[in-house]
Amino acid sequence: MSSDIAQAGLSNGIAVPRHVAVIMDGNGRWAKKRLLNRVMGHEKGADTVRAIVRTCRELGISVLTLYAFSTENWQRPATEVNALMGLLKRFLNSEEAELKDKNIRLGVIGQRHRLPAEVNAVIDRVQAATADNDGMLLNLALSYGGRTEITEMVRAIAVKAAAGELSPERIDEQTVADHLYTRGLPDPDLLIRTSGEMRISNFLLWQLAYTELYVTPTLWPDFTPEEFVRILNDFSQRDRRFGGVDPPNQT
Ligand code: IPE
Ligand code: IPE
Ligand code: MG
Repeated sequence: MSSDIAQAGLSNGIAVPRHVAVIMDGNGRWAKKRLLNRVMGHEKGADTVRAIVRTCRELGISVLTLYAFSTENWQRPATEVNALMGLLKRFLNSEEAELKDKNIRLGVIGQRHRLPAEVNAVIDRVQAATADNDGMLLNLALSYGGRTEITEMVRAIAVKAAAGELSPERIDEQTVADHLYTRGLPDPDLLIRTSGEMRISNFLLWQLAYTELYVTPTLWPDFTPEEFVRILNDFSQRDRRFGGVDPPNQT
């Protein structure tokens, strides 16, 4: 999809969300429907990632967080896990030039220490190569789990409190946010989940508190920039009240 088409599909004058998060689900079902190995679904899903990253950049979205591998996904058969790690490595290698060219910075949230050394090496290289880019942040959730993130946050705060660096009475929501993997980032405005499941699956448990949710039945490998733009149009019609009333000052 060219920049013109992406822009044309977006209704006039609507504000694009600052931060979009995506649960990219359905690669396995896409493959199964075609009697293919699940890994083929992941391969096709990587093409969708490329297209959606490009579209987000063109639309001026500041942060795109993609749930690529959960802490629970380690339980999958070793062949699938290994294939996903190999695909991740190839994906990052192949996208490095485009990320640099399009002024996109790579971020990672999750348990980096559980990733294979060669994946971490590629991440380090691409992060170093894109560190100064400020056009968009592509944030990959890898070995990510919301409960793990919250547990690590609690531990980090407890360590500081025990060392006398932080007084327990002064712990507030900002302290919590500052000790999550997403420190410094705005919360997602919009969460999209493909493949129809109505669940969060341990994604961004703290950060999604007031995020608008959109679940589409489309399987991730079939997801297109056109559908993405339709979802943004839908999002722009949402009335985000954050617990207040609309319009404000209503009696
Ligand atoms: C999402 O697709 C990709 C990952 C979780 C890594 P799935 O592999 O979960 O596909 P389904 O849900 O089995 O169709
Ligand atoms: C969520 O999908 C994780 C990712 C997309 C990386 P899953 O397929 O792992 O989630 P469940 O099992 O349907 O909850
Ligand atoms: Mg799934």
